[in-house]
Amino acid sequence: MAVLRFPETDQKIDIEPEIRSQLARLGIDYERWSLDRVGADASTEDVLRAYASEIDEMKTRGGYVTADVIDVNPATPNLDAMLAKFDKEHTHSEDEVRFILAGRGIFFLNIQGKVASVEVGPGDMLRVPKGTTHWFTLCEERRIRAIRWFQQTSGWTPEYTGSGVENSYQPLCFGPTYLGSRVETGFRV
Ligand SMILES: [Fe+2]
Repeated sequence: MAVLRFPETDQKIDIEPEIRSQLARLGIDYERWSLDRVGADASTEDVLRAYASEIDEMKTRGGYVTADVIDVNPATPNLDAMLAKFDKEHTHSEDEVRFILAGRGIFFLNIQGKVASVEVGPGDMLRVPKGTTHWFTLCEERRIRAIRWFQQTSGWTPEYTGSGVENSYQPLCFGPTYLGSRVETGFRV
């Protein structure tokens, strides 16, 4: 379950329909999807197979051509360098679409001069349209596993704004702490 915050007004929303409607006004799709298709130890291939219908439906909705599973945890090599690519304000030339399978993180969205943060966790689907200024950071467990969709096969490219706005916002995670510290191998990062 996500937590939506507007830091400037100290507003915090943790009711699903309210999160969905507030984000919709900002042009962001938020949905809750079932997590019961696969177990926590399912392989990437099992995840993609189990969610094949949702993956195909999303491809149709957004013109996405490919999907994969990203999986990072504290044992991921060069995790700090990887996170440093996400945590500065940037845009993409395609949508950023994530369905969270495990772990938690925060998307900061800077839309029309107003910053909103969306803490996402297992079962949350978030679709951020191309061109939206945003940045992302993990919660303290430093763990995220998610299905991603792409409109181009060339891969994920950030275009940094260089605004430095991310330095003004503390990444506060409110959701339940992920208790596992399982090290998984064999997943594409
Ligand atoms: Fe991004």
